Amino acid sequence: MNLTTRSRVLAAAAAALTILAATTGSAAPATKAQLAPVKRPVVKSSPAAPKVELTEETDDPAVWGREYPAEYETYLKTTDMVRTRYGGSEAFPWKSTGADDPRTTVTQSKIDDDPRLKAIWAGYAFSIDFREERGHAYMLVDQRTTKRVTERKQPGACLNCHASIWVAFRKAGDGDVVKGFEKLNALPYGEATKLVNHPVSCIDCHDPATMALRVTRPAFMEGIRAWKASRGIAGYDVNKQASQAELRAFVCGQCHVEYYFKGPEKRLTFPWSKGLQVEQITAYYDEAKFADWRHAKSGAPALKAQHPEFELWNQGIHARSAVTCVDCHMPEITFKGQRITDHQVNSPVLKLEAACGKCHAKWPATELKARVEQIQGRTTELRDAAMNAVVALIADVEKAAAAGRTDAELVAPRYLQRRAQFMTDFVEAENSVGFHAPQEAARILGLAADLARQGQLVLRDATFKPSVPVVDVPAPPPPPAPAAAAPPAAPVK
Ligand code: HEC
Ligand code: HEC
Ligand code: HEC
Ligand code: HEC
Ligand code: HEC
Repeated sequence: MNLTTRSRVLAAAAAALTILAATTGSAAPATKAQLAPVKRPVVKSSPAAPKVELTEETDDPAVWGREYPAEYETYLKTTDMVRTRYGGSEAFPWKSTGADDPRTTVTQSKIDDDPRLKAIWAGYAFSIDFREERGHAYMLVDQRTTKRVTERKQPGACLNCHASIWVAFRKAGDGDVVKGFEKLNALPYGEATKLVNHPVSCIDCHDPATMALRVTRPAFMEGIRAWKASRGIAGYDVNKQASQAELRAFVCGQCHVEYYFKGPEKRLTFPWSKGLQVEQITAYYDEAKFADWRHAKSGAPALKAQHPEFELWNQGIHARSAVTCVDCHMPEITFKGQRITDHQVNSPVLKLEAACGKCHAKWPATELKARVEQIQGRTTELRDAAMNAVVALIADVEKAAAAGRTDAELVAPRYLQRRAQFMTDFVEAENSVGFHAPQEAARILGLAADLARQGQLVLRDATFKPSVPVVDVPAPPPPPAPAAAAPPAAPVK
């Protein structure tokens, strides 16, 4: 074990309790000593004097690349597109639709691949354009060109997770990042996007003076503070209190999470004040009486789940063992003779030996792959069952409404649709296809199918008592008819 690896393992061990406290309901809050940041020495690519001065204004990764060429070169490889059985990404040729569309490739369309998704998201922007995700290099261009942006009105808040935005926040807030965040959230997308130039860059994860990892997104700072508070830790300051191991998950958790835009000011918010499990997130939305949109077929106050990688990972055996996103997606590699953290953030299935071998040395790559795909295959079967159940419930509610059932009679079945659909989507939208927490994913999908079944039972027999208390959440008004010239005013997430 070399020194770097050793200090990493020690850091992981020190943080194990902190992360463990997160995954279990009853564990005592971590002590001060466990919360103290763990320092890890930064290995510079070149021991020579700095070639460039990196400041809080340097958002161009090429400039950082002069100082740290190995990390920069691997970072540039996030343009690579390679499919795995259930993930990765595949390049399909694309003909540009005009000057605003510089894309030459796109990924496959998820809604064309699976028409059930259109039924589930009927009336919502996701039913017009939704593709498989790809590498970080594409995040800004893919957002600027999606029909969800070009054919719908969106706020600047979308950019939080699709651009290097730290410098823009600081400028807009005169040095006050939270003020800048508030200003940019509320701007129309077309204006805010002019203030950013790069996809996620070095400055979004590293302090330019020390290279230490740091959290730069106010939405995460606020979300994690609310979550820690729910576990008895008040006033949590992530950049002062997080351990090194936690930061190796938190930097990713700034974007790979469920979110919504709160209120007319479109504040990007992570719904975590009751916890990170799917039921706790629904309880948050129920209490806030929040719905993303009114389902076009059933009239349900529907919710759309978004890439909850951080939340699902948190429920798994790896999180419980303090194994973080970075361990698997950015493992240590030898690049041009140098030991570095791989900055080609991509599917671990494309680099199993580096990603898993450190801990599972006795499993050859073929066996590792088989274990991943077995979990993903089982998750897919259950996902299909849950999705079919939700689609069947939607059809029944639609029929019941057409047959003259009143809104009052439909509160319970529509609420059960909201719950079953959000749970199915929570696993569907999570990008590991169950791997990050196999049993939790199975639990969610099993319960989702059951809630859909209960929705059908209530329609058949109004005296049936569902297993969850029914909450009457008002559905937002439907968007104006497509004939209207102006795009709908209600932004979608
Ligand atoms: C123990 C290893 C491990 C950990 C820890 C882990 N992942 Fe993963 N992740 C995987 C595997 C394996 C896949 C499946 C990749 C595939 O199907 O090609 C995956 C898939 C993904 C995908 C989809 C990638 C693709 O190419 O389709 C994303 C995004 C992702 N993980 C993000 C995260 C984030 C964020 C965290 C931390 C909160 C995390 N992962 C923690 C192993 C891990
Ligand atoms: C909290 C962070 C966050 C915010 C805010 C956010 N995104 Fe994303 N977005 C992601 C992540 C992470 C992915 C990759 C994972 C995935 O696609 O599931 C992604 C993927 C995408 C993609 C590519 C895949 C697809 O869905 O077709 C598009 C386009 C996109 N987002 C558009 C938007 C738009 C439009 C908004 C504002 C309404 C937005 N994003 C707001 C984090 C975010
Ligand atoms: C999404 C977050 C993220 C981005 C963006 C990012 N890094 Fe890193 N970087 C990390 C993580 C995580 C580590 C491992 C740090 C640790 O465990 O202490 C790391 C480590 C490093 C190190 C320490 C040496 C090593 O390889 O472990 C250097 C140098 C570095 N990054 C340079 C860069 C440069 C240059 C860029 C931009 C081209 C960049 N990073 C972009 C997350 C990021
Ligand atoms: C600033 C927001 C942001 C941060 C921070 C971030 N991601 Fe992403 N990530 C995205 C978006 C957006 C996409 C999808 C881009 C697209 O489809 O155009 C994405 C895509 C991915 C993919 C899919 C890659 C592929 O080739 O298909 C993986 C894996 C991933 N991220 C893992 C991570 C990990 C691990 C971290 C932390 C080290 C991280 N991300 C940090 C926003 C972010
Ligand atoms: C930093 C160490 C570490 C890394 C990296 C790591 N794992 Fe693990 N893995 C663990 C630990 C710890 C456990 C829990 C079981 C144990 O204690 O032996 C575990 C458990 C598992 C399990 C059993 C899951 C279950 O639910 O019982 C599988 C499968 C697995 N890992 C696959 C992988 C794959 C595939 C990768 C790479 C993508 C990977 N692991 C990366 C440490 C690691």
